Amino acid sequence: MTTDLEGLLARARDAQQQAYVPYSGFRVGAALECEDGTVVEGCNVENAAYPATICAERTAVAAAVAAGHRRFRAIAVIGSGEGPTTPCGMCRQVLFEFAPDLVVHAAGADGGTATYVLGRDLLPDGFGPRRLDAGQGH
Ligand code: THU
Repeated sequence: MTTDLEGLLARARDAQQQAYVPYSGFRVGAALECEDGTVVEGCNVENAAYPATICAERTAVAAAVAAGHRRFRAIAVIGSGEGPTTPCGMCRQVLFEFAPDLVVHAAGADGGTATYVLGRDLLPDGFGPRRLDAGQGH
């Protein structure tokens, strides 16, 4: 079963309500669709020590992995900015670990959506587990 874009965005919007953002005020929600159709939500969780902040996408990945999911089909991300919120570099890397072919839907407050394929559009030539295998023996 594949969740439709509107359904996945609705889940990302739900997650966005939970964002803990006392410092930036920038609310982000993510909905990560697993291979079996399960959708796991995440929101950004900020910290008084700013760099300890966790983005919505990484919160969703951690929750999904903790629940036993490691194969993902798509993610919807919505931010409170006007245009689409695309995953930051660190989130792209974390998503790439599990799903180089992930479909990424980025949305913003204006309702517009942009769709990407992670390894093709957002992290070309990314460093993933296979590259480590290739380096063994050196
Ligand atoms: N943020 C996310 O949660 N995901 C992104 O893709 C971009 C940025 C969060 C981090 C921080 O809490 C706030 O947005 C402003 O950077």
